[in-house]
Amino acid sequence: MYPIPVAILGATGAVGQRFVSLLEQHPMFQVAALAASDRSEGKTYAEACRWILSDPMPAWAREMTLLPCHPQAMPEAKIVFSALPSEQAKIVEPAFAAAGFAVFSNASAFRREPDVPLLLPEVNADHVHLVRHQRLVRGWSGCIVTNPNCTSSGLTVALKALDNAFGLKRVFAVSLQALSGAGYPGVPSLDILDNVIPYINGEEEKVEWEPRKMLGQLKDGSIQVSTAAFSAHTNRVAVSDGHTVCASVELNEPVTPAQAAHVLSAYQAPEAARGLPSAPDPVIVVREESDRPQPRLDRFTGKGMTTVIGRVRPDPLFTLKFVVLSHNTIRGAAGGSIYNAEVLVRERLL
Ligand SMILES: NC(=O)c1ccc[n+]([C@@H]2O[C@H](COP(=O)([O-])OP(=O)(O)OC[C@H]3O[C@@H](n4cnc5c(N)ncnc54)[C@H](OP(=O)(O)O)[C@@H]3O)[C@@H](O)[C@H]2O)c1
Repeated sequence: MYPIPVAILGATGAVGQRFVSLLEQHPMFQVAALAASDRSEGKTYAEACRWILSDPMPAWAREMTLLPCHPQAMPEAKIVFSALPSEQAKIVEPAFAAAGFAVFSNASAFRREPDVPLLLPEVNADHVHLVRHQRLVRGWSGCIVTNPNCTSSGLTVALKALDNAFGLKRVFAVSLQALSGAGYPGVPSLDILDNVIPYINGEEEKVEWEPRKMLGQLKDGSIQVSTAAFSAHTNRVAVSDGHTVCASVELNEPVTPAQAAHVLSAYQAPEAARGLPSAPDPVIVVREESDRPQPRLDRFTGKGMTTVIGRVRPDPLFTLKFVVLSHNTIRGAAGGSIYNAEVLVRERLL
């Protein structure tokens, strides 16, 4: 059965490069095709891609020829990892799903669709079964499974642990988001050097809604979205990788920081999401130091898949406040998508 041949759409971008790097020697998946825009089509990956990761570009990828993003161009692949901009994803991803491919999307285009899983396996691995309903409704032999926006990823892991233990009522969150979250070349240097930009198009709406879908319950083929209330501010800062979120939460009962820290560090993923190659180990690390987590020091915890939390303390307006850090192009994008695919394969939904 293994390795399963996979393709990467948008392979030359910030997220696409993470896919290429993380899929090197993956025990379940092998890259059979790389695709990007018609600007890159026909070039080798080494020619078309401005490689921005510190690990070298894998030798097997260098000479691969970039294909167009069409299902007919890559018949051997069964799984498609999509790192396309949302506008292209809206058209391209359904074409692949209809042609029988399992599509794992990083784009926002389908996250709100009621029959599309918004998957964070440590939180809601059972939501993957929504693809059965999706296939019935849409008549696809393939499927689309999405991952959340990169700021919601680590935040939702933290919230799930607290919601399970104490019940979650309200969340107030302020993000400090890294530059790689805007793709490559992303934000112009003269806009961001010596600066903070207090606006990211569409981001606050995503952070205020996506966690509610992931914290919701799957019942009779649909998700009952969590009733927790959210308010978010999202900001771009001059950090290369790693999104920081400062969160205040109101819980259903009084909770001390020590109780919360214990619950957070003991949190386990659901059974279906444990022991897979990309499963974070541990799911959450709680730092004791008063000045952690920090992106530069903590973003690669658990190979970039672990959520790092610190500064858990009382909040004068809410129950508690704390700081969450997660790697935006690994846990928040490519690593998260690969983990989603591993769950789908384990659950025999491919
Ligand atoms: N960066 C993050 O941390 C992050 C996290 C979560 C989700 N996402 C989402 O992931 C997706 C990719 O983000 P990114 O940051 O990797 O963006 P990016 O660096 O701008 O890369 C975009 C990729 O899409 C390709 N592309 C652009 N227009 C295309 C078209 N018309 N047809 C086919 N391919 C096209 C580009 O190919 P060329 O090189 O040929 O132009 C490139 O490979 C977006 O939907 C984004 O919102 C990003």
